[in-house]
Amino acid sequence: MPLKSLENKLDMIEVLKNMSEACYFLNSDYEFVFINKAAEPYLKELFFERTKEELIGTKVCDVNPKYIDTEIDTIYHKAYEEQKPQVFEMISEYSKFWFEVKLFPNINGIFVTFSDITDRKEREKQKQRYEKLNLIGVMAAGVAHEVRNPMTTVKGFLQLMAENEELKKHKPIFDLMIYEVNRVNDILTEFLDIAKDKPEKLEEYNLNELIKSILPLLETRALKEGKSVDLHLSNIADLLIDKNEIRQLLLNLINNSLDAMNAGKKVQIMTYEEKNKIVLSIMDEGKGIPSDIIEDITIPFVTTKDKGTGLGIPICFSIAKRNNAKIDYTSSPEGTTFNIRFSK
Ligand SMILES: Nc1ncnc2c1ncn2[C@@H]1O[C@H](COP(=O)(O)OP(=O)(O)O)[C@@H](O)[C@H]1O
Ligand SMILES: [Mg+2]
Repeated sequence: MPLKSLENKLDMIEVLKNMSEACYFLNSDYEFVFINKAAEPYLKELFFERTKEELIGTKVCDVNPKYIDTEIDTIYHKAYEEQKPQVFEMISEYSKFWFEVKLFPNINGIFVTFSDITDRKEREKQKQRYEKLNLIGVMAAGVAHEVRNPMTTVKGFLQLMAENEELKKHKPIFDLMIYEVNRVNDILTEFLDIAKDKPEKLEEYNLNELIKSILPLLETRALKEGKSVDLHLSNIADLLIDKNEIRQLLLNLINNSLDAMNAGKKVQIMTYEEKNKIVLSIMDEGKGIPSDIIEDITIPFVTTKDKGTGLGIPICFSIAKRNNAKIDYTSSPEGTTFNIRFSK
């Protein structure tokens, strides 16, 4: 081999070893013959903590017999036997990472690259959630709007009758009916808010100020119930937000946290900067979101509370969307955390 071309080959191997994309090479017997640095941690995870040294020279199916005759196994065979590149996506059972795997066969085996697409998958899921929410929102907003008008008429007459001398002895009943009509109206108003797609009024505002301004309100409730609200606010830049909407979002989330916690527990509100985002975290020590509704809390009317409306979380998602923020959440029986990431 001419010296120049050998040098090029050596260069190529160095590049493969050190490139940020994870890759490995399987020979025609599906044995590992090359594993680059980026691939090591992932393979360790997929193959029971095996190191690169332990994997080289072994067959994929010997290390993890679970792969035999699976769809993934078939794709590898198809790639090599038909000499056709293949692409597929897989999720790691252990860490729940999503990978995109690309197979490039040649006569000596298969060159495999794989990249972590967990973020993309998460975004797709988020998008589906929003789409579902939008559809329900648009349909139901039409109905809600139509219901509100006749309710105004009913309320007007009830108020008149409540003041009527002849009907005086029924006043408590009229008052109750008016109270219930108001409640329906409030629910409809909240519900219609979900379908809004633009913030009312954007202004430069600091999230920390907003949090501090609603603290007395929250503390009053927390104190009464023997719970506490802790702030951990770091220096953050101002954001372009609709402050009334973000106040609503904070109240909805923190009230949910207080609802979920027993006396003696605390909810922590944090703000911090992260790359080009400002993050607001609300972390509680409540009983966690019940697992049967955890995927559905963004859908209107999903609630586990007797007096709940199931509109709090859908409204938060809708507000976040209008204010250039994204929400994610995790929950366990030890507590729930909501993260709201605002784009700076
Ligand atoms: N921080 C939390 N801890 C535990 N469960 C929660 C939390 N936030 C929301 N949930 C669950 O999600 C449901 C929906 O919340 P939400 O949309 O605010 O409606 P509501 O509070 O009226 O029930 C709640 O009924 C509750 O079961
Ligand atoms: Mg709520």
